[in-house]
Amino acid sequence: MSASAGSTAAPTFVSEPGGCLQGAVRVPGDKSITHRALMFGAIAEGETRIHRALRGEDCLATEAALRQLGADISVHDDGQLLIVQGQGDDALRGTTEPLDLGNSGTGMRLMAGLLVGRPFESVLVGDSSLSKRPMERVAGPLRQMGADIDTQDGCPPVTIRANAPGALRALRYEMPMASAQVKSAVLIAGLRASGETSVVEPAITRDHTERMLHAFGAVVRSKDGVASVQGLDGKSLQGQSITVPSDISSAAFFLVAASVCPRSDLLLEGVGTNPTRTGILDALALLGANITRENERLVGGEPVADLRVRSASLRGARIPEHLVPLAIDELPVLFVAAALAEGETLITGAAELRVKESDRLAAMADGLQRLGVELELLSDGMRIRGRSTLNGGEVDSFGDHRIAMAFAVAGQRAADVVRIRDTANVATSFPDFLTLAQHCGWRVANRGA
Ligand code: S3P
Repeated sequence: MSASAGSTAAPTFVSEPGGCLQGAVRVPGDKSITHRALMFGAIAEGETRIHRALRGEDCLATEAALRQLGADISVHDDGQLLIVQGQGDDALRGTTEPLDLGNSGTGMRLMAGLLVGRPFESVLVGDSSLSKRPMERVAGPLRQMGADIDTQDGCPPVTIRANAPGALRALRYEMPMASAQVKSAVLIAGLRASGETSVVEPAITRDHTERMLHAFGAVVRSKDGVASVQGLDGKSLQGQSITVPSDISSAAFFLVAASVCPRSDLLLEGVGTNPTRTGILDALALLGANITRENERLVGGEPVADLRVRSASLRGARIPEHLVPLAIDELPVLFVAAALAEGETLITGAAELRVKESDRLAAMADGLQRLGVELELLSDGMRIRGRSTLNGGEVDSFGDHRIAMAFAVAGQRAADVVRIRDTANVATSFPDFLTLAQHCGWRVANRGA
């Protein structure tokens, strides 16, 4: 197989059955943590050193937007180390050009929280997928805090107008959906409001913002599903040294691939195991996967472990709804695990998947059905009847990185090759995916457009 990732505008992945995953692999840094480290470093005072940041397109877009706003970010050691020379919160300055967050919902929503209530106007734009994603979910609460912010029919561009100093008010926000991005946007804006800003979560979501703001010196509380931050009252965050764990959302593809490929035994090194992100481990355990945590440790306030995964015979299960927000980005590949599990798997409570980079429920149902899987698509989930082998065929990723990689797993247990169209967006979260996959014995390659 030849690998030429990224060589064509709309590359097709070919996943050939029969892979066997062995050895050790370290997947790239966590996307959520990298976005936050860049943003907080840019408004902190002093140096922030970010080790093993994700250098995927989403985080590069955030980095470029912060530079446009005047942040001093330098790249060292072949991209293994980023240094942000922070000059405090007031150092950000306006730019006449729009800030382009590319494909990244996290970049746009967190940046909205960072840029409201400032003495300059900002316009946030994105690619065709991001331009269709809901932004009123952040604009609404930020407006309640006194921000002058507009969306276009609920979607990007997001226009944030200049505000007089002190315009932001603290808010207690009852968040209608389980969204770490909305929670984070409100908390980040709360840094510049006086008093305590709180977000009441309908279900627990990832808490990287709370952990990292605490590390940067903010007063943060998180208890009984309420996350709060005290306004900084003119003080600044303090720059920190951060080591970014490997992204469990990227590791998830390897966890499922090694589970379903016979005779696999793979070690995933240094993976972030923050309990607000490990729903995929719990869900796969319910399906009978054989995954163990080794060498558990804390790295810069975030739990990390090496994950050892060996092949297992999976069986269907009902996935409890409270796991859904804790595995939200891993559900596409969990559907593939379910398609290869004996019996029926039912996943509900996942309507948020409809407003991700693609409608991930529709995209996964479409592709799985093309590969012969019997399923029922629900408004908020899927009922899947597993098979021992999928059919070969051609599926569309709908330009969504996680759909593309999920079907790259599916092809390993198909009767014939699986071709996955439109995979360029894999570079948003996992630029070296093909190289690492091939390195450990996964039979997937780029076969051009
Ligand atoms: C993210 C939160 C999740 C997730 C996204 C990253 C974050 O989105 O899907 O990939 O970094 O806060 P929601 O908070 O909208 O569920």
